[in-house]
Amino acid sequence: MKIDQIFSPYELNKRVTLRNRLVLAPLNIQSSLFDGTVSLNDLNFHKARAKYVGLDIIGSAYISDSANTAYGAISVADDSKIDGLKKLATVIHQGGSKAILQLVHAGRMTNSNILRGAQVIAPSEIRAAHGDVDLPKAMTKAEIETVIQQFKAATVRAIQAGFDGVELHGANTFLFQQFMSPLSNHRTDEYGGSLENRIRFCAETAKCVLDTAHAHKPGFIVGYRISPEEFEPGALKLGDDLVLMQVLGKLGIDYLSLSLRQYDQTSITCESLSDLRIADIVKQAVGDDLPVMVSGHLGTQFAFERASGDLFAVGRKFLNQPNWPAKTLNPGVQPQSTVTGAVIPYTTLNL
Ligand SMILES: Cc1cc2nc3c(=O)[nH]c(=O)nc-3n(C[C@H](O)[C@H](O)[C@H](O)COP(=O)(O)O)c2cc1C
Repeated sequence: MKIDQIFSPYELNKRVTLRNRLVLAPLNIQSSLFDGTVSLNDLNFHKARAKYVGLDIIGSAYISDSANTAYGAISVADDSKIDGLKKLATVIHQGGSKAILQLVHAGRMTNSNILRGAQVIAPSEIRAAHGDVDLPKAMTKAEIETVIQQFKAATVRAIQAGFDGVELHGANTFLFQQFMSPLSNHRTDEYGGSLENRIRFCAETAKCVLDTAHAHKPGFIVGYRISPEEFEPGALKLGDDLVLMQVLGKLGIDYLSLSLRQYDQTSITCESLSDLRIADIVKQAVGDDLPVMVSGHLGTQFAFERASGDLFAVGRKFLNQPNWPAKTLNPGVQPQSTVTGAVIPYTTLNL
C-alpha cells in the first residue's frame, strides 16, 4: 500500500475513525510496578510513540492472578488497576491515537513465580516443550467459565479506564492458542478433540467480550490477535485457524491481527497454498468486511509498499526508536500531538 494511503484516516468499525493505518504493535515492555500497576515508564513509553499511530496497543495485560506471562507486565486483574490504566489511556489520547488494551491469559506458558504463588492452568496437563514453565493443571469446566468471566471483567475495566478497545491475545502460544492446538489440548469434553470443540473456548470468550463491549460502550473496538500456524509436527495448521478466523468474523470482531515473523510470510502447513502470502490467504478467507492487521519486519517504505492488509503494526522499530516514522519516512510523517514535550516530567504525573 502507498505510504500516503497508510498515513490517511481509516474508518475501522463504521463508528471509529483512526488518524492513520499505522499501529504500535503490542509490546510487553515489562516496566510496570511490582503488582502490575501502570508505571511512569509505561506512560513515557506510550507518550513518545502514540503521536505517530492510529492505534496504540498495550501488550499483554493479564486478566487474573493465574494469567500473567512475564515479570513486570501490566495487570487488569482487579479494580485497583483502573486508575493507572486511565492515565495510560489519557496519555495515548493526548498523542492523538486510539488506545487498545491487549488482554492475555498465559495458560501453560508461565510459572508459579511469575504468578506469585498461583497455580499454572491450561487446557490439558501437558508441559510446554520450551521456556521456564511449570507443569500446568488441566482446567475444569468451571475454571473455563471463570476465565471467560475474567475476560469479561477485564473488558469492563478497560472501558472504565477510557480505552477505545481491547484485543484478545490469541497468538504466541498463550491460552487461546493452547485450546486450538492439538499438541496442547488433549481434552475429551466439548472443549477438545474436533476442530469445532477446540474453537469453542476462543469463540465463547470472544462472544462474551463482544456482548459486554456492545452493552457498555457502542463502538468499543474488539480485536483478536492470532498466530496463524504452528511449525511442530502434529501442531496447529493454517486451515484450522482460518476456520477460527471466519467464526470470529461472523461473531463481529472489529479486526484480526496476524502475528507474523515477516509481513509477507508464506504458509508451511498448507501445501496447496504455499506460494501465497498468509496475509492474502486470510483476507480471502475472511472477506473484505473484516480488517486484517499485519506485522513482522515492517517499518521501511519498501516493506509498507509491498505489504498486504488493512492495518500495519510495527514492534521492534518503535521499541528502539520512538520517532522512527519521522526519521525513516520523512517528510511524509511528522508527529501530530495535542500536547507538547516528548516526555512527561515526573512532578506532573500525580501517580
Ligand atoms: C519486547 C517485545 C515484546 C512483545 N510483546 C508482545 C505482546 O505483549 N503481545 C503480542 O501480541 N506481541 C508481542 N510482541 C510481538 C510484536 O507485537 C510483533 O508482532 C513482533 O515484534 C514482530 O514485529 P516487528 O518485526 O515489527 O518487531 C513483542 C515483541 C517484542 C520484541
